[in-house]
Amino acid sequence: MTAVVKSVTELRQVVAGARSSGQSIRLVPTMGALHEGHASLLRAARADGGFVVVSVFVNPTQFGPREDLSRYPRPFEKDLERCGQEGADLVFAPPVEEVYPPGFATFVEVQGWSDVLEGASRPGHFRGVCTVVLKLFLMAGPDVAYFGQKDAQQVIVLKKMARDLNVAVELRVCPTVREADGLALSSRNVYLSAEERGRALALVRALRAGRDRVLAGERDAEAVRRAVRGVAEGTPGVTLDYAAVVSADSLEPLTRLHGKVLLAIAARVGATRLIDNLLLSVTENEAAEVPV
Ligand code: PAF
Repeated sequence: MTAVVKSVTELRQVVAGARSSGQSIRLVPTMGALHEGHASLLRAARADGGFVVVSVFVNPTQFGPREDLSRYPRPFEKDLERCGQEGADLVFAPPVEEVYPPGFATFVEVQGWSDVLEGASRPGHFRGVCTVVLKLFLMAGPDVAYFGQKDAQQVIVLKKMARDLNVAVELRVCPTVREADGLALSSRNVYLSAEERGRALALVRALRAGRDRVLAGERDAEAVRRAVRGVAEGTPGVTLDYAAVVSADSLEPLTRLHGKVLLAIAARVGATRLIDNLLLSVTENEAAEVPV
């Protein structure tokens, strides 16, 4: 069973011990409810060597007032078991007051990057994500931190934060893990009924319809976006939030496709909001789907 610490003081002591024995520090930040997607991050960290810390913390500041904070799944014992199976060295599972003591007043915001796509639909979300991730970096002092491509905008915003604030942590991105039928793994998939689970496939089908247009030579971003929208909007029980075709470096909307292109989608399936994305590498004459 992996050791668990709950305070920043204990975390720093254990990490300092690992560092003094010559190990580099790897951090896998999570909100728990670990699935194969998280396991792939843990395996990547384990394979890179060093001392692997997993944080398990459902971060209240990244949830909006009408979001699922109170019902977010918290299967802590199962998560601990999973961390053990994947060879994590330490689990950091702080209570909320350890991260946000009374009177907490400092937040990090990547202006302009945090209020588009997910940020437009979930005001304040990335302010919460950036704040907690920077805090985790300062608490654990990792050399490398691991994130999933599934949350593409999160990765882009966090990389920008790290560049802007000279944060000396390398952010390593791991490919999205999917079920055999293509559904992207998400801790929120547990909310889906069997029928909704089938409908949720509209997200990946929509993205693949857009991708196929690009692979067939389409370079007009609006035409690709329409292809993505068409599939999602044509699926009963699925309410599209957005379908976007943007630069994967800057999140800027594109007119003509070139470089690293992100196809991103968000939709509500029943009461559950899901997101997904695909990444393409595009030139005028060639295009390919790339994992990260
Ligand atoms: O991706 C997540 O699970 C969360 O946004 C993160 C990075 C752990 C911050 O709370």
